[in-house]
Amino acid sequence: MEHADLLLLHAKQVATCAGVAPRRGADMKSVGLIEKGAVAVRGGCITAVGPTAKIVEKYQADQTIDCTGKAVCPGFVDPHTHVVFGGDRAGEFELRIKGASYLEIMAAGGGIVSTVRHTRESSVEDLVTSAARRLDGMLALGTTTVEIKTGYGLDTANELKMLRVIEQLALEHPCTIVPTFLGAHTVPVEYKQDTERYIRLVIDDMLPEVMKWYEASLFSSRGVPLFIDVFCEDHAFDVDQSRRVLQAGIDRGLKAKIHVDQFNRFGGVTMAVELGAISADHLEVTDQIEIETLAQSKTIATPLPAVNFNLGAHAYADARGLVDAGAAVALATDINPGSAPCPSMPLVMAIACRFQSLLPAEALNAGTINAAHAIGLGDQTGSIEVGKQADLLILKEGDYRHIPYFFGGNPVETVIKNGHIVGEPHVRSK
Ligand code: NIG
Ligand code: FE
Repeated sequence: MEHADLLLLHAKQVATCAGVAPRRGADMKSVGLIEKGAVAVRGGCITAVGPTAKIVEKYQADQTIDCTGKAVCPGFVDPHTHVVFGGDRAGEFELRIKGASYLEIMAAGGGIVSTVRHTRESSVEDLVTSAARRLDGMLALGTTTVEIKTGYGLDTANELKMLRVIEQLALEHPCTIVPTFLGAHTVPVEYKQDTERYIRLVIDDMLPEVMKWYEASLFSSRGVPLFIDVFCEDHAFDVDQSRRVLQAGIDRGLKAKIHVDQFNRFGGVTMAVELGAISADHLEVTDQIEIETLAQSKTIATPLPAVNFNLGAHAYADARGLVDAGAAVALATDINPGSAPCPSMPLVMAIACRFQSLLPAEALNAGTINAAHAIGLGDQTGSIEVGKQADLLILKEGDYRHIPYFFGGNPVETVIKNGHIVGEPHVRSK
């Protein structure tokens, strides 16, 4: 018999999300289901997955969990978040209910720049504490890997402060954390009349400092990539400015991401694909031509439906069209204090199913294996495959479709991160 640290046995279903990845087209409908399945974990990694009958013949473990009547799936990956921020924008929530639009609030000096004010005023310690609390909530809802953006500092010192907060979270929190530099989130008030000068600050001043920080950081020593992102939109940056910011990051070895086509379409998708961006996110107003462009590229299309739900907008990204065209589609919460104060990947999947016509299997692949590819970790997490991190969820029900179907609560009973139980377990020691 071989030794395992942990065995999950007798699961009604194991939705492995294993196979060709990232998933596209018809492959999005397969979650690699194993009935009466089991998973063996050793040294924090998955060492075997298959029918329970086969696994029990081969493995003995220190600890077993009886998953009778329950489904097991990969930990969720949230590939687009702004989970580090100071203050909140509950007042804007009321303004939007009364009819103000997100862009109107932004143009009037609210929105992102108001969070910038609060974030600049906050200490590293306070930002770590508040973000860790949010990450705890996300982990309990099944998210085991999280990308986190800067973008509420918008000057060199405060962008670096945000990066240090993200690094501290990676040290302290069980979630795997991946950093993204979003110095070009919007133009801060002190540069309002001079976007060009701000772009130069981002490229010539912030980026060299960010690279210095990264090279000495925990992320670089762990081989975790750093991404660069930009908000290509009215009141933020046009296509040419966005291209220059992303290209400057690419020239220094960073991988590009983009906020694009949220409200206005300027051709940013085509630009991002030309630059080989790892993901293009939002995509609410992307047209058929650029959907095809995405489908023929390696860039992962990442709709953020909690934003549209929260903004009360009817313009959801055409996730159905993206899948049907053959794009690799991921989902993310975009958790932030303005457009999406939402920690829940299960709720995002539920909204994607009902408002974007994804099937539960497509939504699960989008929130696991494809999301892992959208942050460059597709070979480490996002599916239940031998050799990957043991990032596993035991669901309360025996059917993975309950994740989006029974919405608004928490479908996750137990969270296992790197082989360790971090949720509320029903553990039976041998
Ligand atoms: O992805 N659109 C730009 N950035 C965020 C919102 C950030 C904010 O409103 O604070 C987004 O929706
Ligand atoms: Fe965002």
